[in-house]
Amino acid sequence: MAGLSGKRVLLVIGGGVAAYKTLDLIRRLRERGASVRGVLTRAGEQFVTPLSVASLSGAKVHQDLFSLTDEAEMGHIELSRDADLVVVAPATADLMAKLAHGLANDLASTLLLATDKKILLAPSMNLRMWLHPATQRNVALLKGDGVLFTGPDVGEMACGEYGPGRMSEPLAIVAAIEEALDHDTALPLPAGVGRPQPSGPLSGKRVLITSGPTHEPIDPVRYIANRSSGKQGHAIARAAAAAGAQVTLVSGPVTLADPQGVSTVHVETAREMRQAVEAALPADIFIAAAAVADWRAEGEAREKIKKGAKGPPVLALVENPDILATVSQMKKGRPPLVVGFAAETEKVVDHAKAKLARKGCDLIVANDVSPASGVMGGERNCVHLVTAKGVESWPEMDKDEVARRLVAHIVSLATKGKTKS
Ligand code: C5P
Repeated sequence: MAGLSGKRVLLVIGGGVAAYKTLDLIRRLRERGASVRGVLTRAGEQFVTPLSVASLSGAKVHQDLFSLTDEAEMGHIELSRDADLVVVAPATADLMAKLAHGLANDLASTLLLATDKKILLAPSMNLRMWLHPATQRNVALLKGDGVLFTGPDVGEMACGEYGPGRMSEPLAIVAAIEEALDHDTALPLPAGVGRPQPSGPLSGKRVLITSGPTHEPIDPVRYIANRSSGKQGHAIARAAAAAGAQVTLVSGPVTLADPQGVSTVHVETAREMRQAVEAALPADIFIAAAAVADWRAEGEAREKIKKGAKGPPVLALVENPDILATVSQMKKGRPPLVVGFAAETEKVVDHAKAKLARKGCDLIVANDVSPASGVMGGERNCVHLVTAKGVESWPEMDKDEVARRLVAHIVSLATKGKTKS
């Protein structure tokens, strides 16, 4: 039941009464293994809530072109390209007119113009609007531009009239999506323009990396943190991108710049990191380099905790989700290669071997983070590569060099197959 396994759909929901059927479409797509990112137009928000779309898609819903956080996490260009197919359901007369004439004055219309993938429209409107010569002209223009259509169906409309204009049923849209994805959905650019295609041993591979610490709030001003700088994880993201991979970096709070050519998602807590990782899957390679806090405060106090006569407060901790173990042990859609890190202050290799088995990953990069090593926050690292087959110890080197060598090692593992027998 995973006919769309690993496929990514960017779903634009326009403002039509049929938008409620789009919620069912999201479920149907996810049942078949596709991941769905939702975009709601202003009018779409009048028919379905961002919360319903986010809950059903399991991902953040995008609504604003100029939302700064979105631009920091993933710009509209990335969003428009990070899908195998763009689907508009319901496609209103207004959205179709904008696309036909190249207007881009909100997030949805901008994405439709900026995308490098095919677009499938599921129109929905009153029959007079559909039959209007202006709409029909736009349909002809869009078809000429290679835009795909499903529907509209003929039938009874919400307004009581009968005729063409009903949005296709969710399963019919799923069938149209499957049909579209059976073919190449990339829209080529003329030679000599556009972003240079990354080439290298990881070209065509999706690499997902976590990096940095997490911050776990205690109250609005205090949090639990650790000394991770994110330097090693960010260096790996740069090295993987330089090797041609399509890299998503999920970063905890760090003071480093986002690596160039990498799609960086910023998070604070372990739970946000897990969500961002899940939203970024599928991937060919997952590298968990983040120093995720093992515990968080049981409940975040809503107001700043005050000093009082009762003495210091007792901080109750609960365990955070283990992102590496969760991804390593996925029954469906596990990345073929999962790499973990083990930051230890003693018995580095022994602990790493135990961790490899416990977490179920393919490779552990173990390093000594005792204060004397200077690794946490420092520029250099000394690592041991632990697999089911044995241990390979590297001399101390710069974190960028560790990253480059690690990526080369991963390339050799990915081409040879996994390390586990
Ligand atoms: O269990 P420990 O924290 O020592 O394991 C380290 C490895 O597990 C690292 O790869 C780290 O990124 C990952 N990890 C995780 N989620 C956690 C704890 C650790 O992904 N909650």
